Amino acid sequence: MGRGAELAALIGALGEAEAGRGSVFLLSGEPGIGKSRLADEAAAHARGRGLLVLRGRCWEAGGAPGYWPWVQVLRAYARGAEPYELRGLLGAGAPELAELLPELRELVGDLPRPAVHDPEALRFRLFDAVAVFLRAVADERALLVVLDDLHAADEPSLLLLEFLAGSTRDARVAVLGAYRDTETEPGHPLNRLIGDMVREPAVGRISLGGLGREEVGEYVELSAGRRAPEPVVEAIHERTAGNPLFVVETMRLLAAEGRLDRADAGTIVPAGVGQAIDRRLERLSEAARGALTIASVLGREFDPAVLERLDHDDDVAGALDEAIAARLVTASPRAPGLLRFSHALVRDALYGAIPARRRRDLHGRVGMELERRHRAEPGPHFAKLAQHFFEAAATEEAVEYAELGAEHAVSQLAYEEASRLYRLALRAFERGGATDESRLCGLLLGLGGPGARRRGGRREGNLPARGRGRPARWDGGAARSRSARIRRALGMDGAAGRPSHHPAARGSHRRATERGQRPARPVARAARRRAVEGQR
Ligand SMILES: Nc1ncnc2c1ncn2[C@@H]1O[C@H](COP(=O)(O)OP(=O)(O)O)[C@@H](O)[C@H]1O
Ligand SMILES: [Mg+2]
Repeated sequence: MGRGAELAALIGALGEAEAGRGSVFLLSGEPGIGKSRLADEAAAHARGRGLLVLRGRCWEAGGAPGYWPWVQVLRAYARGAEPYELRGLLGAGAPELAELLPELRELVGDLPRPAVHDPEALRFRLFDAVAVFLRAVADERALLVVLDDLHAADEPSLLLLEFLAGSTRDARVAVLGAYRDTETEPGHPLNRLIGDMVREPAVGRISLGGLGREEVGEYVELSAGRRAPEPVVEAIHERTAGNPLFVVETMRLLAAEGRLDRADAGTIVPAGVGQAIDRRLERLSEAARGALTIASVLGREFDPAVLERLDHDDDVAGALDEAIAARLVTASPRAPGLLRFSHALVRDALYGAIPARRRRDLHGRVGMELERRHRAEPGPHFAKLAQHFFEAAATEEAVEYAELGAEHAVSQLAYEEASRLYRLALRAFERGGATDESRLCGLLLGLGGPGARRRGGRREGNLPARGRGRPARWDGGAARSRSARIRRALGMDGAAGRPSHHPAARGSHRRATERGQRPARPVARAARRRAVEGQR
C-alpha cells in the first residue's frame, strides 16, 4: 500500500547496482511504519530482476555476538554456495573472513590464522576482506544486501557498513539498511555513522512517514473485505497517524471483537499501538499469554523447543498455535523451526508487563537453559548468556560470561563490542557488591586492552561506587587512565608488560621502544591474572 516513490528510488538503486554503480540506502522511521516491509518489497524486486539478495537482521534483545548482521549475510551466501566456488571467491581474505564466520573452516577446509597481530591492521584486513568478497560475489551476480534493525547493531557492524559504503561505490552491490530513528539518542554510534556516511555521494536516505488517508482507507477495505464508513476510516487514520502496524493491529482488534460493523467503530480505536497490541494480547488464553511471556524473554525470535523446556505445565504447542492463529507470532523467515513475534512491539509489550522479580527469575532460567544447550560450543553465546545472567542479577555468572564474551569479541576483532561487555561485567560486579579487587583489576585491564578502542565518546551512566578506590563515575576515559595506572603500578606497562593495543597507547609504546627499551611481549591472560594476584 502506497510507498510508490520510496520503492521507485530503491528500484532505481538496484538498476544502478546492476550497472556497476553501487550505493547504500538508509531507511529510517518509527517502529511499525513499514521499514521491514519496504525492504521485503525491494528484496522481492531484486530477486525478480535476478539479483542475489543477502539479508542480516540485528538482534534487538541484546547479546548477539559481534558483527551479527554481517555474520548472517556471509552465512546466507556460504550456505548456498558450493565449497569450490566459495574457496575461489574467498581469495586471500579467507583467514580474516573465517574469524567472522568460523564455519568457513569446515566448509572450505583448513585455513591459516591471520598473519597480522596488530588489532587495527587486522581489522582493516577484515573489513577489506568482506568488501573484496562481496565484490567478487557481485561480479557473478549483482547483489542486494539488506540489513534490518540497525538501531540494535553492535558498533563494529556499523563501522563495517561505513567502510563498505566507501568501497563498493563502483561495485555491483546495493546495500539497504533500516533503523528506528526514534531510538537513537545523541550519543548512539548510529548517529555518528549516519553523520559520516551521508557525506558519501553514493549514500541515499529514505525517511518513512505515515500512510495517507486514501491508503489507510484502501487498507481498511482490503482487510475488512469491504469499504468501511468514511468516519471510521477518518478516525483510524487520525488515531494511527497512518502507522501501518497500528492500522493492522487496530483492524485485527476490531475484527476479533466483532466491532468492525459498528458505526462507532472509529471511536473505539485504541489510543496507541501499544494499547492495540495489549488489547489483542488480552484476548489470548492464559496458557498462550504465559507461553508468549516466557518467549519474550528469549527475544524477538525464539526456538519453540527451548520454550517447551522452560514452560513445563502448559500445552506449549497448543499455546503457540493459538498465537500463530492470532498472527502475533509467525514462522521465522530466517531459520526453519524458529518462531518470531510478528513485530518487535509485540515482544516489547509482553516483556514490559513482566513484574521485576519474575523477570529476574525468568532470565535466570533462560540463562541456565541456554548454558545447558550450548555447552559444546558456547563461544558465540557468551554475550547472550552474560545478558541473561545480568538481568537475573546473578553476579558471578554475569561477570564471568561478560568477560568471556569480551575476550571472544576481541578475537573476532569486535573491539567496541568487547568494550561494551567489559563494561557490562563491571556493572554486574559493582551492582553485586563484589569486593574482589584482583577481579576488578582483571576487568579494568581488559577494558584498557584492545577493547578500549572506542569512537564517538559515549559515556556510561553512573555506577554505584561501593568499597574503597572504586571510580564513582564510569566512563571510557577514566577506565583507561585507571587501567594505565594499574599497569604502571604493576610494572606491566612498557618494557615489563604487554603493550596496550589501544592506538593511543601504541604511541607511548613506540616512544618507549625508541628510547631503547625492549619491546613488550604478550602475556597470557592467566599469567596476567597471576601477576596481578601476586601483587596483592
Ligand atoms: N505500505 C504498507 N502497506 C500495507 N501494510 C504495510 C505497509 N507497510 C507496513 N505494513 C504492515 O505493517 C506492519 C509493520 O510493518 P514493518 O515493516 O514490520 O514495520 P517496521 O519494520 O518499520 O517496524 C507489518 O504487518 C507490515 O506488513
Ligand atoms: Mg522492522
